[in-house]
Amino acid sequence: MKLNEQYKNVPIYLPGKSIKEVQEQLGLEQVIKLASNENPYGASRKVNERINEELAYLSIYPDGSGKKLKEKIADLYGIDDKQIILGNGSDEIIQYLSRIYLNSDSEVITSIPTFPMYKTNALMEGAHVVEAPLVDGRFDLDKMAEAITERTAIIWVCNPNNPTGGIVSEEELVHFLEKVPSHILVAVDEAYYEYVTDKSYPNTISLMSKYANLLVLRTFSKIYGLAALRIGYGIANEKVIQDLLRVKEPFNANHLAQVSAEEAISDQEFVQFCKEMNTESKRIFLKGLEELGIDYFPSESNFVLVKHKMDDDQLFQYFLNNGVIIRSGHKLGIPGTFRVTIGSIEQMNQVLKILKQII
Ligand SMILES: Cc1ncc(COP(=O)(O)O)c(C=O)c1O
Repeated sequence: MKLNEQYKNVPIYLPGKSIKEVQEQLGLEQVIKLASNENPYGASRKVNERINEELAYLSIYPDGSGKKLKEKIADLYGIDDKQIILGNGSDEIIQYLSRIYLNSDSEVITSIPTFPMYKTNALMEGAHVVEAPLVDGRFDLDKMAEAITERTAIIWVCNPNNPTGGIVSEEELVHFLEKVPSHILVAVDEAYYEYVTDKSYPNTISLMSKYANLLVLRTFSKIYGLAALRIGYGIANEKVIQDLLRVKEPFNANHLAQVSAEEAISDQEFVQFCKEMNTESKRIFLKGLEELGIDYFPSESNFVLVKHKMDDDQLFQYFLNNGVIIRSGHKLGIPGTFRVTIGSIEQMNQVLKILKQII
């Protein structure tokens, strides 16, 4: 068998360790996972009730159009449901966008370090990837604008950026959009949008009426606590959504994911609770880091990238031995750091305690 040439450079995604795996390997009873930016408070209780009701329908295919969920999302943002596409996680929409707009003649512009799937999917299509390094953990939109060529097809902006948590402001984004030719898609990944408290953060959806080449990605995996079900969505003008629908798998968003997301979206009280808890828990954690003299990247998200002076693997193992799974910096392309999800206050105090022992 001969592997297609363009896949030879595609890295295989290496998932982090699971709680069960660590419990079994190290014989630990209590293990907490703060490695994948999941919600420590789970999902809205309404979701459990709805899933129980829907178990009777597992033999029936899901609604391939996701009509009800799209209507709920459209209501939440005051948009038309024709502006929405659902994905099996927002990951899948990154794949769809790359499939429809890229080929071996095209270029993608993004940053480094950022969420790796923009690059991975571009490589799968044989496209060339241009990476303008972050400055102070934030996207350097000026450098990215300078990198535009006639081959540029998609520009990826991760806002807040994973793994640093830095944001670009509405003013910066608009200034950038003014410089981008209208045939180039600007995809803004807002997976952590619900956690942001900085008032300068863009209202990207409202910018779409002026910039038809703008697309936003959001997900139910983070604040809505539905990562296991795999459901995310893209919002763009109707023409872009129609383009995306050409490559959509017929039943990509499964039934339990759709109905769970419907319930989750209707419980905005829970979303607000998670946001407030995240803000408070992060405040306590950052204060603790400062007291220990440890540097970090300011974050508008539910994770923090912390700087350290140890060997990355040793630090990771030390945390693991103490029952905490973190994301090691070298796996993120930034040795000398680790990324930790903001868990409950109790969990963050545990992380601080471990850091104190290390120091
Ligand atoms: C920036 C960013 N985009 C997209 C995703 C993928 O999310 P989903 O679970 O919706 O596929 C993640 C997941 O960690 C992420 O951090």
